[in-house]
Amino acid sequence: MAVNLKRSSGGGTAEVNVSRRRMLGWITGTGLVGSGVLSALSNFVFIKPRATYGQPQRFSIGKPDDFPAGTRITLEARRICVVREGSRLAAISTTCTHLGCIVGLSDTGFACPCHGSRFDTDGTVTGGPAPRALPWFKITLAPNGEIEVDKDIEVAPGSYLTL
Ligand code: FES
Repeated sequence: MAVNLKRSSGGGTAEVNVSRRRMLGWITGTGLVGSGVLSALSNFVFIKPRATYGQPQRFSIGKPDDFPAGTRITLEARRICVVREGSRLAAISTTCTHLGCIVGLSDTGFACPCHGSRFDTDGTVTGGPAPRALPWFKITLAPNGEIEVDKDIEVAPGSYLTL
């Protein structure tokens, strides 16, 4: 069966004879191309990473004078404890190595409120279920005079930055 369409151009009218088969072919082709484009777009949206990577692991914590000698100051948002002994500084993790609770300061070092792990002032396990010591992180003095902590780099316990 043929479909007759009237087309006007240049002042005249011409009748175009389009077969049903050809019209169905156009509709099918347009549908296939459209679904292909939509599929490609949805695949792109699916593949594109939407992950958030949280806080940066390297950050500044302020000037050395913000940490007086003889203090241990916890920065809860950063999950570290800054230890200052004389002119030496260190950053110890406050994330419990058992199941990740935040440990608090205690008279003998650190204590975890979740399952009772205890650590000495160097982060060594002294009791409870924690499987290993609290990590120490790399700490440096930036050119602008601020202290930088890099939680991506663990250092050996007892590795202080000397000011
Ligand atoms: S999370 Fe600290 S002891 Fe379990």
